[in-house]
Order: sequence, then C-alpha cells, then structure tokens
Amino acid sequence: MSEAASLMDRMYRRQRHVYDASRKFYLLGRDAVIADLAVPPGGSVLEIGCGTGRNLVAVAKAYPDAVCHGLDVSAAMLDTAARAVARASLAGRIRLAQADATAFDPQPLFGRAAFDRIVISYALSMIPPWEQVLARAVAHLAPGGALHVVDFGGQAGLPAPARAVLNRWLGAFSVTPRATLPAALAQVAAAPGFQARVRQRFGGYTVHGVVTRRP
Ligand SMILES: C[S@@+](CC[C@H](N)C(=O)[O-])C[C@H]1O[C@@H](n2cnc3c(N)ncnc32)[C@H](O)[C@@H]1O
Repeated sequence: MSEAASLMDRMYRRQRHVYDASRKFYLLGRDAVIADLAVPPGGSVLEIGCGTGRNLVAVAKAYPDAVCHGLDVSAAMLDTAARAVARASLAGRIRLAQADATAFDPQPLFGRAAFDRIVISYALSMIPPWEQVLARAVAHLAPGGALHVVDFGGQAGLPAPARAVLNRWLGAFSVTPRATLPAALAQVAAAPGFQARVRQRFGGYTVHGVVTRRP
C-alpha cells in the first residue's frame, strides 16, 4: 500500500462514517459545481478523489444519462462510496476504482482515456504534488470537455487572525489551502485549445475553477 493510501485510510477509517453530515458545513460550493457541470447527453464524468461518493451520487441524479466514474486512493473511502452508490441504486451508472490521483491511467481502470467532465472537489488541498494532478486531469479531458475544481483558496479577503485559526484547524485534517490554485489553473489552460475561468468566494475561502478544452 502506498504512503498516500495508508495516510488517507488512517485519516478516514472512522471519519468516513460522519463525513457527509459534518463536511456539508464547510466544504462549500460542491453543489454549485454540480449544477454548473452541464454534462452533455450521455456524457462521461470522472471525479478524482471521490471520497464517500456524495458528489457522484448527486451528479448521477442531476444528469440521469451521464456515465460516472470515481477514483480515490483510500480503500476505506471507496468502501463507503460503494455502499452509497448501492443504496441509491446507481451501481449500473457509477464505477469506482482505487488509484493515486498523481499517477492514474483511466484506460485500465475504466476502459476509457478521456472524459467530458472531470471534477476535483476538496482533494487538491490534501495532495502534496497537487499541480501534477491538475496536469493529469487536463490531459484526460475529451474535446469539448471541462475540468471543474473546487477547493480551499488563499483567503486573502479574511482577517489574518481568522485565517490563522482556520489554517491551524484544516492542518489537523492534513488539509493545506492552495493559495496559488487560480494561477495554476491559468497555467494549465495556457496550452493551445484550453481556457480557464476562476471564481473566488467568501473572501477567498473557496476557489471554483473551470478549465475547458475546445471541441
Ligand atoms: C476532503 S475529501 C473530498 C471527497 C469528495 N471529493 C468531496 O468533495 O466530498 C479528499 C479525498 O481525496 C482523497 N485523496 C487524498 N489523496 C489522494 C490521492 N493521492 N489520490 C487519490 N485520492 C486522494 C482522500 O482519500 C479523500 O477521499
């Protein structure tokens, strides 16, 4: 088992049972991302770092003919995700696989190399080589596809004491806000045929970025 996998399994072995109920208060913007996805008819969706499957189940319900895929490094989280998918009777439309986001190849995992929509929700802030994950995600966008990222930002609009408390608390969960996420999104979109738009909310608490690939 890789270091990332055992760290995440240790982190989530117990927390996964209260994850969805507790995270809804501070993983802000996830439903806005899902509403913004506009998956094309019959389109494919991949969530990188899918956790408990909360987002994938919501995507599958919002876009009833989408074919959904989720990968995560943590076997414990994937176990919870598989149960959520089965409870929602969506096992036929959501496929799950264990993989490290920094080095995944979707072809052997899911039998496809590219996706119409890729979502990375509050995972980059837990992955030290997160820029590598962004580059990999963009490389697996189908023509006309879009990568949607939501995560903790640099909080430039929050008072310094609030920032200090927040960052100490997030650190206890191995979370590091990504202050340079807007710049990193612009950088991956600098390649010909790509474009990025980035929105920061709540004083920079969240960043929602979209990288689109020309059809
Ligand atoms: C904060 S949770 C977010 C889960 C879900 N995306 C959400 O929005 O609720 C971060 C997830 O990223 C996963 N993760 C962390 N490092 C990873 C890596 N290197 N590769 C794949 N997944 C990873 C964790 O196991 C965890 O499930």
